Amino acid sequence: MNTNPAHKAKGIAKQYQIQLLEWYAIQGRTSLPWRTLKGENAPYGVYVSEIMLQQTQVKRVQEHYFTPFLNAFPTLESLAKASLDSILKQWEGLGYYTRARNMQKAAILCCEKYNATLPNTRKDLLKLPGIGAYTSGAILCFGFHQSVSFVDGNIRRVLCRIFALREPNQKLLDGLAFLLLDTKHSFDYNQALLDLGAMICTPKSPNCLICPMQNLCNGKVNPTLYPTPKTSSSTPLTLHLLLYKDSKGRIAFVYEKGDKGGLYQGLYNLPQLKLEALANKQRFYKCGSFKHHYTKYAITANVYKLDSKHLNLLTQSLPHTKLYFFSQKELESRPLSSLCKKALEFV
Ligand code: ADE
Repeated sequence: MNTNPAHKAKGIAKQYQIQLLEWYAIQGRTSLPWRTLKGENAPYGVYVSEIMLQQTQVKRVQEHYFTPFLNAFPTLESLAKASLDSILKQWEGLGYYTRARNMQKAAILCCEKYNATLPNTRKDLLKLPGIGAYTSGAILCFGFHQSVSFVDGNIRRVLCRIFALREPNQKLLDGLAFLLLDTKHSFDYNQALLDLGAMICTPKSPNCLICPMQNLCNGKVNPTLYPTPKTSSSTPLTLHLLLYKDSKGRIAFVYEKGDKGGLYQGLYNLPQLKLEALANKQRFYKCGSFKHHYTKYAITANVYKLDSKHLNLLTQSLPHTKLYFFSQKELESRPLSSLCKKALEFV
């Protein structure tokens, strides 16, 4: 028997496509809002959805972010012209804020170079910040209806299981995705693969019993062997956040500029205290703590308060740091991190 995956892919491609598309027609999430976009602005909507979906669950994007974002910034041009604060406000809670900043940079480039539309070639898409191999493929296929294949985390897992691959390189996966692609129905085919990976061929407890590809799958006897699971341990981090209200009830914030390479660029956050500042000063009193996960960090956040008359202690603890004071009303238009929003519940 020939065990070469490319050989197998050629042999099963037709059957694979038929079974996948039949399943998708019945079980697939065909009405997701970014799958039903029409008209010349559709590539932009697809682009927004793919960037949001890079690190965020479908349900959250669908229920809270996709439509409000498109209502606020309906075109690339409106995104290019918007203030960064207003974009980050729409993105608030999604995390990985670089995605939003890159989208605005890309929108500005598209206005300068491509008449406020997204380019429709892989070469040009790849030149835009935040767009890599997967996203460019998804925009070409879902936005411009081009017949292209691509591999994201879900598709990778499906391919690894079908071919029982533990640690394949990207070239092999790209080649297999290309050989299996249904070139006549590439939109539905690729959306179906994403659904199969998200709904059946899941990382932890894949539902092989109801999988439409069961008969073609070499990995089904021990699916979680494929691909070799990553050991991703998060890094513990303890933060000490200060909730300082001045005599007018306005809260003190710090702002992370967009060019510092930090986690929260462009967002307002509560000031962070160093342990030394806390050790020497009895005036800071702890009012609670909470746990928060952000990127690779497992954060324990301790929240402190300080009486309004001790502003000098705050400024001493944070030399060279500009403070911004906002009322509750003003906060409605300022982008805040989820960490900060949780801490504000202690107000
Ligand atoms: N994840 C990335 N792209 C997606 C899409 N188009 N539909 C559902 N999940 C996705």
